[in-house]
Amino acid sequence: MLASIPVMACPLLWTLVLLKVFAADCQVLVQPRIVGGYAPSPNSVKYIVSLQTSKGQHFCGGSLVHKYWVLTAAHCNMGVDQMMIVAGDYALGLYEGTEQYFKPHSLIPHPLYNKTTNNADIMLIKLRAPIDQNRYVSLAPLPRQNTGVLPGRVCRVSGWGSTSHSGGEIPPTLHTVKLPIVSTAKCNSSESFSGNITSNMICAGYSTGGKDACKGDSGGPLVCDGRVYGLVSWGNGCGDARFPGVYTAVSRFRRWIDQTIYSSFTRCYKH
Ligand code: ARG
Repeated sequence: MLASIPVMACPLLWTLVLLKVFAADCQVLVQPRIVGGYAPSPNSVKYIVSLQTSKGQHFCGGSLVHKYWVLTAAHCNMGVDQMMIVAGDYALGLYEGTEQYFKPHSLIPHPLYNKTTNNADIMLIKLRAPIDQNRYVSLAPLPRQNTGVLPGRVCRVSGWGSTSHSGGEIPPTLHTVKLPIVSTAKCNSSESFSGNITSNMICAGYSTGGKDACKGDSGGPLVCDGRVYGLVSWGNGCGDARFPGVYTAVSRFRRWIDQTIYSSFTRCYKH
C-alpha cells in the first residue's frame, strides 16, 4: 500500500531513467535494496562504510566508530584476507574521489555470537591505517551501555543492499529509510518472531510493512537521535508487515566495544 504510490509514479520517470537521472529512486522499488526508502544526498551519512570482497563486491555495511575501527555484524565475517573496507562512498560502482580504502588488520567477532540464534551479532574490525576524517568521512556516536530506545521512536537505517537484480549500469547509490522501533513484546509474539528476539536485539518497522532493510544491508547502522542503536542483523523476508527487521542492540555491547578498542590486548586477537 505504502509502496504502491511510488511504484505507480515510476513509469512517469522512465524517460528520465533513459537519461540515467533519478534512476536510483525508481530502482529501489524494484530491487531488494533498502526497501521503501530513498537516496539521501551524497555523503550525508558520513560514518557508513561498505564492506567488500577483495574483488570489490559489496556484501555488508558498517559504521566508523574510531579512526582505526569499524562496527558491523558478526555474520559479515568473511575472513580477514577476503575483506576490504570503503569509507566516503556513495555510488558503489563509480569512483567519486571521496572514497578511502582500507584493509582489515584484524576482525573481532563478539565471543558470544551464535550463528544459529543470531545472538550477539556484532563485530569490530580494526583497520590497518587510520581513516582521514573530512567532509565525507566522520565517526558515528554510540549509545551508552544498556540505554534503551522506546517503541515508536523513529530511527533511520541506511545501506547499499543487494544488487543481484538486473539493475543494468545504474550506479547503486546509498539508500535510507525511516522506521519506528517495535516493542520486543510485539516482535516476540506468536504472530511475529515467537520468542526468538533476545535482549541483545531490537526490532524496527511499520505494522503495515513496506519499509525495511534487506539482504546486503547487514551490519549497517540503525540511527536514533544521532547514535547507532542498531546493526542490521536478520529478518524474515523484507518489508513483510508481520515481520519487522531485527537489529543488534548496540547499547548492550557498549562496554565490550570500548574495552576492545582501548584494551592493550587487542593485538593478541588475530583472526
Ligand atoms: N541478513 C541480511 C544480510 O545479510 C540482512 C537481513 C535484514 N532483513 C530485514 N528484513 N531487515 O544482509
